[in-house]
Amino acid sequence: MQKILKQVENKKIFDVLIIGSGAAGNSLALQLPKTMSVGLISKTELHEGSTYYAQGGISAVLSKIDSINQHVEDTMEAGAGLCKEDIVKAVAKDSKVIIEWLLEQGVKFTKNESGSSDKLHLTKEGGHTYPRIVHAADKTGEAIQDSLINKVKKQSNIELFTHHVAIDLITKENKDSAQKKCVGSYILNKKNNQINVFKAKFVVLATGGANKVYLYTSNPDTSSGDGIAMAYRAGCDIANMEFMQFHPTCLFHHKAKSFLISESLRGEGGRLLLPNGDSFMHKYDSRGVLAPRDIVARAIDSEMKINGFDYVLLDISHKKSSFIKKRFPNIYKKCLEFNIDITKTPMPVVPATHYTCGGINIDINARTNIKNLYAIGEVAHSGLHGANRMASNSLLECIFFSKKVLEDIKKYENEKHEDIRNLLENNKDKKVSEEVIIKHSWKEIRTLMWNYVGIVRTNERLLKAKIRISIFKREVEESFDKNIISSDLIELRNLIYIAEIIITSALARKESRGLHYNLDYPKINDEAKDTIINIGVKNNIKLYQEK
Ligand code: FAD
Ligand code: SIN
Repeated sequence: MQKILKQVENKKIFDVLIIGSGAAGNSLALQLPKTMSVGLISKTELHEGSTYYAQGGISAVLSKIDSINQHVEDTMEAGAGLCKEDIVKAVAKDSKVIIEWLLEQGVKFTKNESGSSDKLHLTKEGGHTYPRIVHAADKTGEAIQDSLINKVKKQSNIELFTHHVAIDLITKENKDSAQKKCVGSYILNKKNNQINVFKAKFVVLATGGANKVYLYTSNPDTSSGDGIAMAYRAGCDIANMEFMQFHPTCLFHHKAKSFLISESLRGEGGRLLLPNGDSFMHKYDSRGVLAPRDIVARAIDSEMKINGFDYVLLDISHKKSSFIKKRFPNIYKKCLEFNIDITKTPMPVVPATHYTCGGINIDINARTNIKNLYAIGEVAHSGLHGANRMASNSLLECIFFSKKVLEDIKKYENEKHEDIRNLLENNKDKKVSEEVIIKHSWKEIRTLMWNYVGIVRTNERLLKAKIRISIFKREVEESFDKNIISSDLIELRNLIYIAEIIITSALARKESRGLHYNLDYPKINDEAKDTIINIGVKNNIKLYQEK
């Protein structure tokens, strides 16, 4: 069926356009001065995104036995040589203030039962030397989103646009410098399929990660890498995308959609076992089940491949039933839905993609290499996580960089709107693309990435994946020109770009480091370098590594 859509007017103008309403986008929107007009875009419901599903918590230096130096050391150790020390220090130093800010927003974190009742309960996760994780039982993300969204909805300078999808950024060449400037974004309103230009003095990408590019992921559907793909097409530097983090323990059940079993469950005594009941992590790392994530995920993958197991077991049933139900109410309830009573029996678990360590390259102020374009949260590469993110450092990073954007934007109070007439793209005279083709390509790409660009990689598999993705890319660009632009088509196009970026970055890294493991280069190089990729002039991809 052919559907013709009417052209729409260019009508939305803001001081700041924030694309994404997770921890990063919401915290920035709330902090911006009330004198600034803010457009906050979310591609589904306001709460939906990875933030809402965060379980474990947020790392912060609060305990007397802990120190900022120790948090820095642990983060850098997990990051396998690629963390930027100045960024890690700044984030760890601010962690206490960030928790205080969240408490002020009304987030109800779990408190200690014994001792002083006003103290927050701290738990432990992989890579952390001391208990350092502030949490709200096992539903930390929900507690944060509920509080932030409650406030965002009441703030009159913020205009909310749910079910709106950003398609691409609008940039202008700058007469006086080689640096382009971002002036807005094309946004599709999913409710009527019309495309609008949203114009802004400052644009902030807070669109989350790209983990949906893999078949099995702990992430919600929103994580299709839109922000990274948009920024890449606009000319941003994209860094270290070969480092995709696999969470070691997602529930293995055909109906569970890779439901996450929090690392904090191991922090509270959970054990990893083979299906016959033998423990195995001690063979891989002296820290056992609380070794950093890359090590635990690879160990599980290796045991599954060597022995032909479909899963391994995670067991906490030796702990008191009352403790388990109180500490992990969400996991307990969810597992029960699949007839697994975790107070009595172990859970079958497998690794699944969980976090995008790379992303849009930003500086300490969250600025990208395009003027007036910022990136915060999982969409960005700040240098905090290096080659492997330490658990619970991500929510912290979201809030830290929202504060940095705020400080930076305040410096440019006199910024003017650019004239961007005649830029409107529209869905006029286009065909509706067939849903079945989009769904099929989507599944094929995610399966290809899982099988060829997974936890353990080889050059041969990466090269095969590269050829296949280039075919998909040609097809999708053609489809994008000819067909009506739908939300599914936008996401498919973005996933293909993300796959291309990951494969190109993985092929460039001729070593194994952190989350990137290539059997053809099993050793780690002496020098640690970032992989930076830029679409370059006339789409000739530039790729380089820098210290
Ligand atoms: P998100 O929360 O993912 O939000 C992205 C937003 O962007 C959404 O509003 C989405 O609609 C919007 N968006 C995306 N594309 C578009 C588009 N094209 N147009 C318009 N809007 C768009 N980290 C921790 O630190 N501690 C934890 O305990 C923890 N647990 C986790 C558990 C799970 C199951 C998962 C999936 C992740 C977990 N993480 C945890 C990671 C952490 O939750 C995320 O890294 C973090 O929440 C990302 O926040 P964000 O604001 O960057 O993105
Ligand atoms: C978890 O609870 O295991 C997730 C923590 C994180 O990803 O930081």
